[in-house]
Amino acid sequence: MTDPFRRIAPIVRLAPAKLNLTLAVTGRRLSGYHELHSVMVELDLADRLSLAPSAAGRDSLHTTGFDPGPPAENLVLLAISEARQAVGRGWAAPAGSAGAAPALAARLEKRIPVAAGLAGGSSDAAAAIDGALEAWGAELGPDERLRLALRLGSDVPFFLAGGVALVEGRGERVTRLPPVGGTAPGVLLVTPDVQLSTKDVFAAYAAGPNRGLGGSTHLASDHLAGELRSGLASRDLVLRAGVLAAANDLLGPATAILPQLVPFRRGLARVLGRPIGQSGSGPTCWVLYPSETDAAAAAETVRTAVADGRLGSESGSHPFIAATTIRSALIRSTTEEPSA
Ligand code: C5P
Repeated sequence: MTDPFRRIAPIVRLAPAKLNLTLAVTGRRLSGYHELHSVMVELDLADRLSLAPSAAGRDSLHTTGFDPGPPAENLVLLAISEARQAVGRGWAAPAGSAGAAPALAARLEKRIPVAAGLAGGSSDAAAAIDGALEAWGAELGPDERLRLALRLGSDVPFFLAGGVALVEGRGERVTRLPPVGGTAPGVLLVTPDVQLSTKDVFAAYAAGPNRGLGGSTHLASDHLAGELRSGLASRDLVLRAGVLAAANDLLGPATAILPQLVPFRRGLARVLGRPIGQSGSGPTCWVLYPSETDAAAAAETVRTAVADGRLGSESGSHPFIAATTIRSALIRSTTEEPSA
């Protein structure tokens, strides 16, 4: 009998975390979505997704690591299902089989904290689209991929392009930028053990006093995009950390929801003596270093501060602490970019 899969071996995709170096809110659409201007970078910290034929005849998901919540609500299963619909009759069923593209068994190793402003779930979704298409031997045009990605979430289109990019609109306009030059900058991530819903943070922005005042953040974001376009060296990016750390319009709304983020960030700044940024809607804090080795040393400093009680939360829960780098090259096999 003909195997309905073109490939037998599991298909493996890395789903990297993202960091917003800047995030300016520049407007609001009638739909309620906000217009953004954000420089986003992929990190080496990544989830790992593998897809194989499902013996059960229906899509399934098994996760390890951070708990992403109920499988039925997971973007990986949603992405596979939406991709199957998008492929539709375009899936060339081998002789002897019929119907929709076959069921997949997904295994997801969650190494990226959940609801942390690192877009792990969106990255998983992008990886699932890409992996499922490969498993089925199916293709979608760049525009169709983009539409599919956007149906799954505003951050998903960025991961179809990956690397370093300027992200505009609701998230659908993704313009690739040149990678940061020289040694890949080190990034220390510190995520307090609390979760923030993106929806809630944008709602707090819309209700807050600063809506529509994002002028200086937009300027900083535009400036960084321009510098990257003309070639920005790693050491110069690290020198700009002070400006970038302030260039996030969701900083205020995130702390309006979780006021404990203020003393946490202050404590971190005291321990490290460096500017502390927030990725996306938070609560993850980022700190830039000249190399991953420097970031790893800083991670140890933070672990010690948590252990001896100089840094932490009242509940005694421990933050996620990781040293990583801004990804210097695309490791996934995706070559298509959305033609937004
Ligand atoms: O697109 P996604 O489902 O990830 O967005 C979650 C929520 O965040 C949206 O329902 C919306 O309320 C808010 N959002 C926004 N503007 C964006 C992206 C997200 O208001 N550009």
